[in-house]
Amino acid sequence: MAAAEFTALTSEAVRSQGRFTVALSGGSTPRSLYALLATKPSIPWDKICFFWGDERHVPPDHPDSNYRMAQEALLAKVPVRPENIFRIRGEEKDAETAARQYEDTLQQFFHLSPTQFPRFDLILLGLGPDGHTASLFPQTSALNEWHRLVVANWVEKFKAYRITLTFPVLNAAERLIFLASGPDKATILHQVLENGGANLPSQQVRPSQGRSLWLVDRLAASGLSGGANIST
Ligand code: 6PG
Repeated sequence: MAAAEFTALTSEAVRSQGRFTVALSGGSTPRSLYALLATKPSIPWDKICFFWGDERHVPPDHPDSNYRMAQEALLAKVPVRPENIFRIRGEEKDAETAARQYEDTLQQFFHLSPTQFPRFDLILLGLGPDGHTASLFPQTSALNEWHRLVVANWVEKFKAYRITLTFPVLNAAERLIFLASGPDKATILHQVLENGGANLPSQQVRPSQGRSLWLVDRLAASGLSGGANIST
């Protein structure tokens, strides 16, 4: 289902505007999607511009690197133009420098004025067991950022910074797809989709002029009462 959505959105965007801009998600859930997409030569890979929703504060060859995961599962296997890969420089000594650099990258690529937000064709997102998405974790400063495009976000439980797109960038996207799979996501998915009062970070993602879609497997959906409009 996710691969079909990606393929359809790509061909529509390339047909109507000559390119497709996507921000990839990290974590483990999207790896199988990336591997599946890598088997699809009909996708116009040379017209796709790749960005990331967030990155760990690590070099691109580090096992925890979101860039590395996507590179190994997908980008190394398809004819993407190297100049169309815009990764977050997690290797920067200072995470804030990496965030500022990525803001500059987005401002230049999307030709943004200082108050504008980029409109990605698609942003892929995951769901953490604590309700975080991208690297917008509960009780972190990035949750209150409504002007910047990208910030370095200190995550106390990891004693580390993450570099993440902010809510206004997520909410400016044309299309958002949340991916959630496995039994360990059942409780949080119920909270996010069926408990409006939970005030979880992923509940703050509400595209202003776009659409969001939840693609979840049956195990992740096992905690839902059936009210939520989701695709399994
Ligand atoms: C990251 C992700 C993060 C991820 C969730 C879910 O860098 O880790 O961007 O938001 O999507 O933590 O991770 P899993 O897919 O591994 O459960």
